[in-house]
Amino acid sequence: MNFDSIPREELPGILCRMPKAELHIHIEGSLEPELIFELATRNRLRLPYPTMEELRAAYAFTDLQSFLDIYYAGAGVLQTEDDFFAMAWAYLKRAKADNVVHAEIFFDPQTHTARGIPFATVINGLDRAIRRGREELGLSASLILCFLRHLSEKDAFAVLEDALPFRDRFIGVGLDSGERGNPPEKFARVFARCRQLGLRLVAHAGEEGSAEYISHALDLLQAERIDHGVHCLDDPQLVARLVQQQVPLTVCPLSNVKLCVFPSLSAHNIAKLLAAGIVATINSDDPAYFGGYLNENYTATFAALPELGVKEAYQLARNSFRASFADENTKEGWIRELDEFFAHRHAQPSTVSAH
Ligand code: HPA
Ligand code: ZN
Repeated sequence: MNFDSIPREELPGILCRMPKAELHIHIEGSLEPELIFELATRNRLRLPYPTMEELRAAYAFTDLQSFLDIYYAGAGVLQTEDDFFAMAWAYLKRAKADNVVHAEIFFDPQTHTARGIPFATVINGLDRAIRRGREELGLSASLILCFLRHLSEKDAFAVLEDALPFRDRFIGVGLDSGERGNPPEKFARVFARCRQLGLRLVAHAGEEGSAEYISHALDLLQAERIDHGVHCLDDPQLVARLVQQQVPLTVCPLSNVKLCVFPSLSAHNIAKLLAAGIVATINSDDPAYFGGYLNENYTATFAALPELGVKEAYQLARNSFRASFADENTKEGWIRELDEFFAHRHAQPSTVSAH
């Protein structure tokens, strides 16, 4: 494809309108302050922040843990199946507006089961939204259960046990929460069991943690995809391996800046990751907390990095489909749709999707 013939001014419109997949979104991180207040009122809960403005003002993070403290507190308003449905349905409609055609969505059951919410309540609400999204929005989505790495191996085995009666409602498992001091090896046996069960495996690694955590997620957890992974550039051998084995990274630029992984978007290494031949993708992580959904992640990153042009826009969207856990025929269909978009539709007037 001749990307050079497409003027750079068309980039924002292309980024917003092109079909894409989102592979790194924590559904609890899509809980907007408005919905937090609505659910708190409905469930007669008192929030530590009297107004929405004061809650939003608390979203000034210095690192991952300072974010997680507020994120877990926010998730405390979710009580009923309808609450989980409302959260996921809001995300799916928002994703549709960003021309997301497929989403692989993380959920953190331990955040809820620890508060006495049954696993069934969580997954039934999320699953109902996903089925409605498929029917009404034509958006394909699936769930990935994340283990909280600050909790024990025993706790992870316990939530896996809770989840097994619902095995057909989620496609895989991941590993999230505070990375430092909670290395992949802590969960090697749980992941081995999940692998036996035929679950797909991903893990957060190399966000705040070192490149070694990425290698260990690959070697000790058999992770098929790495969430964040931006610290891989510290280890040239690891980069060569990621390229050779085509291990995808789900990178989240706005998140990385909000959590001080990079000082600014212009200092982000996503362009270097792509140039090195890594299957990097762009994702939103926790959009309600980090100032943007998927299209804002794309447009802000491209605006900050002049090395990223139309070719990289195509590459990132294509990578998002290749890196997904959909079957090969489905992926090929999406990539044909993407090729079609770039071949015929890029010349349409740019409509940057409104927030
Ligand atoms: N990192 C680790 N755990 C998380 C994140 C993240 O960016 N978001 C939600 N849980
Ligand atoms: Zn994440």
